[in-house]
Parts: sequence; structure tokens; C-alpha cells
Amino acid sequence: MFRPDGSLLLHHQCPMATVLRTGISVREQEVHIERPDGSRGIALVDIEAIKNSDGNIVGAVNCFQDVTERKRSEEQIVNLAREAEHRTKNILATVLATVRLSHSATSDNLKQLIEGRIDALAKVHTLFVESRWAGAELHRLVTQELMAYGGESKVRVRIDGPAVMLEPSMAQTTAISLHELATNAAKYGSLSATRGHVEITWRLTVDRRLILRWIESGGPTVTPPTHRGFGTRIMENMIGQLRGEVRFDWRDQGLTCEIALPLA
Ligand SMILES: Nc1ncnc2c1ncn2[C@@H]1O[C@H](COP(=O)(O)OP(=O)(O)O)[C@@H](O)[C@H]1O
Ligand SMILES: [Mg+2]
Repeated sequence: MFRPDGSLLLHHQCPMATVLRTGISVREQEVHIERPDGSRGIALVDIEAIKNSDGNIVGAVNCFQDVTERKRSEEQIVNLAREAEHRTKNILATVLATVRLSHSATSDNLKQLIEGRIDALAKVHTLFVESRWAGAELHRLVTQELMAYGGESKVRVRIDGPAVMLEPSMAQTTAISLHELATNAAKYGSLSATRGHVEITWRLTVDRRLILRWIESGGPTVTPPTHRGFGTRIMENMIGQLRGEVRFDWRDQGLTCEIALPLA
């Protein structure tokens, strides 16, 4: 037998021995019991002394409740609560960073920018919930973020790549990046033209890196930008934090962007 703190409980110190010695009842005392095979169970013991007509202790009744399972589920709840707290903090930190990195000349536009970015995070969040926070499946993530830009003909957006599960921070970064690329494409690039399209493909390298390519074509002729906007900076910042790299290639037939991220 062991006490809840893990220390050894010798037989002559156990609750039963104490009751037989003192006559004082014991209620719901926790005792950890090791079986001969080494496995442990947790019991709550309730002990009542039996006295004869002279008031001498002649025995005791001990009633055990096996609470092993209950304790285990209680522990699970505590762990889940801790995990949920941790995740909430993470989400808020990401939202905070997103707000901090968003800048615009007018407050209306700023509001719109932030809303779009938080919406991208919210969308990827639903995938986390579905996967019990394992992360997000890349194909689903891309489809979800590009849904609004598919247009009437599905050929505007082509998505192709192997199945890969991205852990949450990578999925968030990818979601925000795709959101920035898509809004830019709709504003300045191929998705601003009726015949333009974008191709999103990815592959995994032998050294476990994800290489995601965003290729625009069919839009207006592109000239390399003279200024680096905040959208670009958000991407660089978030990707950099994961030790990834992002490269923009401003070809006149359309922007090509390559993102490399180390997987776990
Ligand atoms: N897909 C694109 N096609 C052509 N030009 C683009 C594209 N994406 C971005 N740009 C150019 O790069 C600039 C920087 O983009 P970005 O960093 O997102 O800032 P913002 O969108 O706030 O201007 C844009 O102002 C635009 O001139
Ligand atoms: Mg932008």
C-alpha cells in the first residue's frame, strides 16, 4: 500500500491498523494499492470499529471503493483543461501578432485587413478542431482558403499535392500566407482578370521540407513591386519564425511564390 504522495504505507500504519488501535472511524481515505503483478489501483477506504458491550474494540468493518477509473478520468479532465488553456493562449498570441503586423492608411481598410486575416485563422481552426488539434490536412486547408476565389469556373484555381498533415503553427502560417497571396492575386494579380488562374502545388523533400508553389498566370502583366507591403512582411515574418523561406518571383506573366517549410 502507498499513500497518495507515493510513500510506502506499512501494514501496521494502514488505516485499518489505526482504527483497530484507536477506534476512531476513517472516512474516504485514499490508499494506493499495488497488486502482485505490479499494477496499481486506487481505493477510498471507510472504516468503522466494532466494539463489544464493554466498549472494547473487537474488530472493524472496512468498505473499499475502487476509484481507479474515476481518478483517471479526473486526471484526464485536468490535462485537457490545461491543454485547452495552452491552445487558447497560442491562438490569442497568433491573433495578437496578426493585428500587430497589420497596417493601413485608413482605419476602415485596416479593419478589413485584420478581419480577413482572423477569418483565415478561424477557418484553419475548424480543421484543428476536427482533427483534435493534430493539425490540418494541407489539401483541405488550401481548398478552404481558396474557396472564395474559385469563381464560377473551377479552373481558376488548381490544387495538387500529396497528402500531408500540418501541425497547428505550420497550418496557421500556411493559411495566413495563402490568404495574403489570394487577396493580392485578386487585387493585383491573375485573379483580378476573368481569364486568370492560379496553380497551387506542393511536394515533400527527402529532408522533410514542404515546398509549396503558388503560380499565377493569365492576369495582367506584372512588374516587380517597388515597395514591400505589410502582406509580404507578415508572410516573411511568420514563415521565418518557423525557419522557413519564402521567395517571390515577379515574372511578367504572373507572380510565382515558393514557400519552403521544415516539417516538425
Ligand atoms: N499577385 C500579384 N501580382 C502582381 N503584383 C502583386 C501581386 N501581389 C503583390 N503585388 C504587388 O506587391 C505589392 C506588395 O504586396 P503586399 O505586401 O501584399 O502589400 P499590399 O497588398 O498591402 O500592397 C502590392 O502592392 C503589389 O504592387
Ligand atoms: Mg497584400
